[in-house]
Amino acid sequence: MNKKYRRAVIAGNWKMNKLPAEAAQLVEAIKAENAGADNSNVTVVCCVPYVDIDAAVKAAKGSFIHIGAENCHWEKSGAFTGEISADMLVACGVEYVIIGHSERRQYFGETDLTVNKRVKAALEAGLQVILCVGELLEQREQGITEEIISMQVKIDLADITEEQMKNIIIAYEPVWAIGTGKTATAEQADEVCEAIRKTLGALYTPALAEATTIQYGGSMNAKNCEELLAKEHVDGGLIGGASLKAPDFTAIIKAAR
Ligand code: 13P
Repeated sequence: MNKKYRRAVIAGNWKMNKLPAEAAQLVEAIKAENAGADNSNVTVVCCVPYVDIDAAVKAAKGSFIHIGAENCHWEKSGAFTGEISADMLVACGVEYVIIGHSERRQYFGETDLTVNKRVKAALEAGLQVILCVGELLEQREQGITEEIISMQVKIDLADITEEQMKNIIIAYEPVWAIGTGKTATAEQADEVCEAIRKTLGALYTPALAEATTIQYGGSMNAKNCEELLAKEHVDGGLIGGASLKAPDFTAIIKAAR
């Protein structure tokens, strides 16, 4: 099997940006930029702040755009002030959720163990998960990138069945490339995405590894997307800054088509 049989997924991670009215405007602008385009062979997702979900879901209704959230808690309900459950997201029309983003790991104490719990809860609620993994600059400089990524993948996916893996997308996001303007070279991105595929092959089956969508994320933009997305093991992108501008996001969607 090769890349053309895998689902290409272009997802925007809006992070902590856009008020609800602006969210609706941005979704409308992405729709307008894509008017007349055939996006049937690429899945497009906008992962938005919780308070923007309602506006984004309404604006995206009936279009090619799917709405995602940026995190969810592992419990169904309870005394977890400030948290949101996977069932709550589903009830609001959310289809995808990012789990384990490096900003959650770096600033909010997220660990591989909590990432694993969130992944399980999201899958049980029927969400599709975009699971983020990535190495720090020091780890890359120490030459331990592949070990780190393989460990993250193994812990984050502990107890996830082969059947559940159909609803998992993995995003390789080198932490040193996020929001820094420093992109991994297409070769570096491809190398680590291939290593992730090998880890999946060992954990599950080679066929499952071949069928899993693996994205690259980290300063992907309208200029560098073509080279990155052309790589054998890079099946899509998780885009921060450039996903907030409809023309730039559309250029990336176009490259994936
Ligand atoms: P940037 O595209 O802004 O570097 O962000 C990448 C990212 O963190 C997507 O999740």
